[in-house]
Amino acid sequence: MAKKLITVTVNGNKIEQAVEPRTLLIHFLRENLNLTGAHIGCDTSHCGACTVDIDGQSVKSCTHLAVQCDGSEVVTVEGLADKGVLHAVQDAFYKEHGLQCGFCTPGMLVRAYRLLQDNVNPSEEQIRAGMAGNLCRCTGYQNIVKAVRHAAKTLQTAKQAVAA
Ligand code: FES
Ligand code: FES
Repeated sequence: MAKKLITVTVNGNKIEQAVEPRTLLIHFLRENLNLTGAHIGCDTSHCGACTVDIDGQSVKSCTHLAVQCDGSEVVTVEGLADKGVLHAVQDAFYKEHGLQCGFCTPGMLVRAYRLLQDNVNPSEEQIRAGMAGNLCRCTGYQNIVKAVRHAAKTLQTAKQAVAA
């Protein structure tokens, strides 16, 4: 099938590539760009291991075509740290032991990153509901909830420090 040229900004880098219309975004990221943090855990759009941020929304990249991202801004787990300094969600998952095998973690982190921009101070219930699109086989979720709370506090403290 004829390829289509797309321009997409991924983690701040502008990329121009020709892609087949049927290419799923997850495969474009992993195979074309070698961004292998996002994972594939299912073929029915349930697990959320493939979650990335597109134009300010969490999206399961296994159910999105690369051609649909023409002109979009995409953030993957590799784009969360800033010059080697971990983002608050990464630091919090580390501190609260919110991961074991790590397979769900890139998707969890990118989802938590967006959740905390949409709701700066989520309750436990809101965190569980907000992360419901992401499955984990290892943690039982408890420490993931703690990690998202931890990250929320860190981000709030940082905001107050800037405002003061
Ligand atoms: S790989 Fe499972 S939802 Fe995308
Ligand atoms: S840490 Fe193993 S699946 Fe979540």
